[in-house]
Amino acid sequence: MTQQIYVLNGPNLNLLGTREPEIYGTDTLDDIEQRMKAAAPEAEITFRQTNSEGQLVDWVQEASKTANVLILNAGAYTHTSVALHDALRACDAEIVEVHLSNPAAREPFRSTNYVAPCANASIAGFGASGYLMALTAILQNKKD
Ligand code: DQA
Repeated sequence: MTQQIYVLNGPNLNLLGTREPEIYGTDTLDDIEQRMKAAAPEAEITFRQTNSEGQLVDWVQEASKTANVLILNAGAYTHTSVALHDALRACDAEIVEVHLSNPAAREPFRSTNYVAPCANASIAGFGASGYLMALTAILQNKKD
């Protein structure tokens, strides 16, 4: 069965590469997308970014109908969005939360997390590699 994998990215992640590179690194979101697609040509990967909370909720609802797996970096909405939390609770796809940085080790407001309680797994603090780690772990688990 072809794995249908949605990779959804929240606000400001379109700025990756130039945004606080000392925290988020110099890889762009496009670099990450290309690497994921190259690493899993057998999977169908839908890769998107939005700065809008409502759009992210709409895409989570779409992923629930279309995807087996949702890899999600919700950016700052991780720490603020009850609407996203509710959409994730209703989502039938397996959910893997990814963050480039480790929010738990940063400002106290980043310790509030509305995504983690809905996720099957979380990867944080490995920079852009975290996306690939999530993808390879998922594909390995599906084979086992
Ligand atoms: C982030 C961490 C969030 O706290 C922050 O708001 C982001 C990026 C990360 O990938 O490290 O926008 O999700």
